Amino acid sequence: MERDPASPELVRPDIDLSLFPATTSVSDSGRVGVGGVDLLDLAAEHGTPAFVYDEVGLRTSFRAARSLFGEGVAYATKAFLTPSLARIAADEGMSFDVSSAGEYRCCRLAGVAPDRLVVHGNNKTVQEIDTAVADGVQWIVVDNFVELSRVIDAARRLAVTPRVLIRVNPGIQIHTHRYIATGNRNSKFGFPVWTGDAAEAMETARRAGCLDVVGLHFHIGSFVLSLDTFVAALDAVASIVEQFDPRVLVVGGGLGLRYLRTDECPTLEEWGRAILDWAARRFPGRRVLAEPGRVLVARSALTLYTVGMVQRKGRTRFVAVDGGMSDNPRPMLYGSGYEAFSLTRPLEPHAAVCRLVGRHCETGDTLVERALLPESTAVGDIVCTPVTGAYGYSMASTYNLIPRPPIIMVRDGRARVTTRRETEDDLFAREVAP
Ligand code: LLP
Repeated sequence: MERDPASPELVRPDIDLSLFPATTSVSDSGRVGVGGVDLLDLAAEHGTPAFVYDEVGLRTSFRAARSLFGEGVAYATKAFLTPSLARIAADEGMSFDVSSAGEYRCCRLAGVAPDRLVVHGNNKTVQEIDTAVADGVQWIVVDNFVELSRVIDAARRLAVTPRVLIRVNPGIQIHTHRYIATGNRNSKFGFPVWTGDAAEAMETARRAGCLDVVGLHFHIGSFVLSLDTFVAALDAVASIVEQFDPRVLVVGGGLGLRYLRTDECPTLEEWGRAILDWAARRFPGRRVLAEPGRVLVARSALTLYTVGMVQRKGRTRFVAVDGGMSDNPRPMLYGSGYEAFSLTRPLEPHAAVCRLVGRHCETGDTLVERALLPESTAVGDIVCTPVTGAYGYSMASTYNLIPRPPIIMVRDGRARVTTRRETEDDLFAREVAP
């Protein structure tokens, strides 16, 4: 909480704007807006919980990724995908990493051409492979030998030559939660470099004669905070790159970003430059691409909640909101940290330590273990958690049969509900027998 040095009579809210969407503004009275739309008005009109996405912020990130890496750079749709989001990313020139028929369909519904789709997954179905081969996607990323023979079979059967990347596993340890490290010796993904499988897969793919083997792919994991880790991964694949001299090298995604004021993380630009500079030195002339997810969308959204219970129990002050692990399972799965901010009391010091919990029937349903909120936080207040744009909505569930929140896209003073709130009827729409 600070006084504004320019006008000391003004009290500035306790808000770290660097965690909020890029277009966030704060009025003198502390009203917080995103994309020119007041968040309390949004909560009143659309209810809570709700995801609010900043369209300008999204476009800015997609444009930055596209200008860093160029044509063919893909957005990893698992981070957040709706048809509207796909339209925005396509407008900004992105390709799309899709890892299921559902993600594929969503992009196609948004009008994305197949040659902008990069088909991923460690266990693609025969149907998914056939569709990708028949449609002529940008690349099929082949993950294992079973899949390699299925792609070869589809290419011969359908008499087309699919463009493929061979996904290799560099076998390196990285500093992230073990559930989201994918390029180590324990991971199910990719052809191991250290066993010789990666080289064998490249040789088999080239020998097949029916595939256009465009290059190599690796992805070391997610929420990686240091550039050195990416450089170590590049070092680990250098010998196979030298051996096979591929036209394209895709370095996956995985860059983290700040969720907490205390976090430190390189920017998208620093990450891109580090990778591209390394590649230019080591493999001049090679096309190097990436497929970031989280870093392109996380900061462009926040979640609005309404406080439904405030109670001190022993030494802990609980603040319960109307969402929780169904709209953000990340704290429970990976121990991820978030911050909370009171939109109802923005000018009061955020100094009372609270446990921000959800409404689900588990003690683990804690969104923020040590949230700092105003002392006077009360039932009916609107609070938000910033940086919820990645792996929140896309991993949302209907646990406890609680309908999923809407997606509200804001821009230039206008709010559009691009995905409406799930209804209780939706919850039972698939039941076929009483
Ligand atoms: N490419 C591949 C092949 C991937 O598997 C992933 C993410 C990405 C790109 C994008 O990674 P990103 O830039 O978003 O880190 N649910 C977890 C994250 C799982 C990421 C899985 N793969 C979380 O909430 O932290």
